[in-house]
Amino acid sequence: MLPMFTFTPLKMTEETGAHGRIGICGAASNSDRAPQRSNKMTVAFPARRKRAFITGITGQDGSYLAELLLSKNYEVHGIKRRSSSFNTERVDHLISDWHERDVSFFLHFGDLSDASSLSKLLYRVAPDEIYHLGAQSHVRVSFDIPEYTGDITALGTTRLLDAIRETGIPTRFYNAASSEMFGQAYECPQTELTPFRPRSPYGCAKLYSYWMTVNAREGYGLYAVNGILFNHESPRRGEIFVSRKITRAVARILHGLQEKLYLGNLDGERDWGYAPEFVEGIWRMLQQDEPEDFLLATGETHSVREFVERAFSEVGLDWRRHVEVDPQYYRPTEIDRLEGDYSKARKKLGWTPSTRFRDLVKIMVEADVQLLEDKLSGQIERRMAMRGSE
Ligand code: NAP
Ligand code: GDD
Repeated sequence: MLPMFTFTPLKMTEETGAHGRIGICGAASNSDRAPQRSNKMTVAFPARRKRAFITGITGQDGSYLAELLLSKNYEVHGIKRRSSSFNTERVDHLISDWHERDVSFFLHFGDLSDASSLSKLLYRVAPDEIYHLGAQSHVRVSFDIPEYTGDITALGTTRLLDAIRETGIPTRFYNAASSEMFGQAYECPQTELTPFRPRSPYGCAKLYSYWMTVNAREGYGLYAVNGILFNHESPRRGEIFVSRKITRAVARILHGLQEKLYLGNLDGERDWGYAPEFVEGIWRMLQQDEPEDFLLATGETHSVREFVERAFSEVGLDWRRHVEVDPQYYRPTEIDRLEGDYSKARKKLGWTPSTRFRDLVKIMVEADVQLLEDKLSGQIERRMAMRGSE
């Protein structure tokens, strides 16, 4: 078992963040406040709210997970990287003025390459649950920057696990593993027992991270689990993953802003699910009595070509007139097909995805068309305003 040190969370120190309204602070919660006195002089202690710490909170999954945890009355802390431009777009709606009472959402500067920042934050926040989602998460990019990918995606996990040991906080740990670890898979569909055979620097980094998590569980008795998640998408998906690249292009082509969409391998087949449903599964993994690894997927596989066809036909366009293959998007090694069997998650977590492929594509196309139209109308307003000032 982990040694259990006593710890004293630091007092809150509030600073103005990049937007001038982000609380950068230590552990401040209802549980840290003085007990309330009733008029009968009995002392009522407020129930301790659960406190979560999320790496990768500014990403697709981190933003949905933060929303889910807030809806469950958690106090949510996350790290954001220092950047020369704003990088909190996906969570901006969760940020409130830290002068307000009952603030539940906190962002702290930190980086997975910086072990001391992780230790300090864990010591201050003392979270009950840690969701480790931060990573250099793009497979194609990992071939260009393999060393950096290893540093953040693999060693970042070691730094975080080490920070848990250093601080001695009693906590539960979730690691975002990936179906990319199956690579050119030995069997189809893949389960939690399928051997791994990664085909990218990203896949290798995730495999290292996976085993470090298993070792922390077996070696130190930490409640640590891996979620082996298959591709999951949403309107918040990063713009250079294939699903979002397609749906953004559909919106732009529809509005005459773009003529062609250049893609790589159209034959790759993926098991695509809907991200908000997957973060529910992630949360459930940390609520079990015993720590175990789980796979989340839909069990339904489609090719990139099918995604393209569906997305274009959603707005009445013929994809053949607009899509061209550009070999620069090919990968040195590709995974032909991924298909997951989520039976274990269904049985033990009671988790079942309900958004099917067709619905997912529709949700994403509609969201990107709406987003573009909102932007265009904003531009028109701006142009009109500028004309007025001329
Ligand atoms: P994402 O949108 O790319 O988000 C990645 C997050 O990691 C961002 O918040 C990013 O911060 C942060 N990050 C990157 N480098 C960092 C660093 N050096 N220090 C601290 N934070 C850093 O990824 P996602 O789709 O939400 O996926 C979440 C996790 O699940 C990732 O680990 C991914 O590899 C894994 N996964 C995803 C899928 C999927 O289909 N989405 C499937 C399996 C596994 P910035 O916002 O500043 O870039
Ligand atoms: N990104 C991208 N861009 N992919 C393309 C393109 C293109 O222009 N053209 C074709 N593809 C193909 C890729 O070769 C791959 O077969 C498929 O589209 C999906 O690519 P991505 O959307 O980049 O996702 P991924 O499967 O490589 O990785 C995602 O899923 C993993 C889980 O299996 C990421 O989210 C990883 O972080 C995640 O672990």
